[in-house]
Amino acid sequence: MILVTGGAGFIGGNFVLDWLAQSNEPVINLDKLTYAGNLDTLKSLDGDARHIFVCGDICDRALLIKLLAEYTPRAVINFAAESHVDRSIHGPGDFIQTNVLGTFNLLEAARAYWVKLPANEKAAFRFLHVSTDEVYGTLEEQDPPFAETKAYEPNSPYSASKAASDHLVRAWYQTYGLPVLTTNCSNNYGPYHFPEKLIPLVILKALDGKPLPIYGDGQQVRDWLYVNDHCRAIRCVLEAGKLGETYNIGGHNEIANLDVVKKICELLDALRPRKDGEPYSKQISFVQDRPGHDRRYAIDARKLEQELGWTPAETFETGIQKTVAWYLSNQEWVQNVTSGAYREWMNKQYGA
Ligand code: NAD
Ligand code: TYD
Repeated sequence: MILVTGGAGFIGGNFVLDWLAQSNEPVINLDKLTYAGNLDTLKSLDGDARHIFVCGDICDRALLIKLLAEYTPRAVINFAAESHVDRSIHGPGDFIQTNVLGTFNLLEAARAYWVKLPANEKAAFRFLHVSTDEVYGTLEEQDPPFAETKAYEPNSPYSASKAASDHLVRAWYQTYGLPVLTTNCSNNYGPYHFPEKLIPLVILKALDGKPLPIYGDGQQVRDWLYVNDHCRAIRCVLEAGKLGETYNIGGHNEIANLDVVKKICELLDALRPRKDGEPYSKQISFVQDRPGHDRRYAIDARKLEQELGWTPAETFETGIQKTVAWYLSNQEWVQNVTSGAYREWMNKQYGA
């Protein structure tokens, strides 16, 4: 079996669903259920003995040691994190706690477990750390995309905390020989994405008749990857990645924020037209920019493609259609996650 952390969040949840759709290997899913963790995402696994959910914190070393001893997983996949840049600007403490100290605790618990494994299990064990392209900093328009060799230059408390965790993971390989793998992925989108992030936020605000907030001039570029493509890349790296190595994962979909929002508006115009017949793009509203806002991210995924044969299956065109359609037909999930805590954040960030 495998131990997944943060498996009630956006990417971890999609990963667990995908994993159990592809194989019968059980998953222990350790998640603290912060505002970003939702068991509704995993509802289809209710009563499925292959999914063992544990509510707990990756900072709780005793719990980690107990779970590893009890379930003897062949791999740990670490998705658990505080993941929202804007929240990290308002309050960086939780990011340092979970992303840095949590990863440290997980590494130490995994190391204590791994050193005592029988030789064949020890050789097969993997610790896969899921990270972000944001650790590399920002690109100018003419710069080449981020390769794995790019120096780390994080600019937000979120990316700095993820960079710190990546360094710890690297050091546990170099110093202790813990069999680690790290993946650095670009912006994901798809089903079960918490509506504080750009794409689901814009879909929900559009349907609610609210302004669609574009930070600054909206010309910041992200390299969008459909979440299932990310999940498949992680499975590839887990099974065939070289120990101690880093793999960049990206979708070859560099798009400016304003164009992303316009595309969502167009799809909604066709699928759920406004009652007054006006286009959703009328709701676009330029708001104050995010401090330290990275201008452009882009991923060079050639290492993963050439060494492990992975390529993304979705283009932005196909992925965004699926995503908008998913939000339109999963209003119950949306209602459940947009609770009191969500409304508090919306008021704090965008004003009542
Ligand atoms: P998310 O915020 O949707 O989910 C994070 C999950 O971790 C939640 O279920 C939360 O309850 C859980 N969690 C938080 N603190 C915890 C703790 N201390 N102990 C146990 N569980 C805890 O995040 P996501 O978008 O699914 O991102 C998952 C991982 O992928 C993160 O490490 C993130 O840095 C990385 N990543 C995300 C993106 C993206 O576009 N979303 C891109 C690249 C990398
Ligand atoms: P986000 O989804 O928060 O991901 P990240 O900051 O990790 O890239 O934001 C994606 C882009 O969209 C980013 O450039 C910030 C921008 N953005 C807005 O313009 N308005 C918003 O309300 C949000 C949440 C993001």
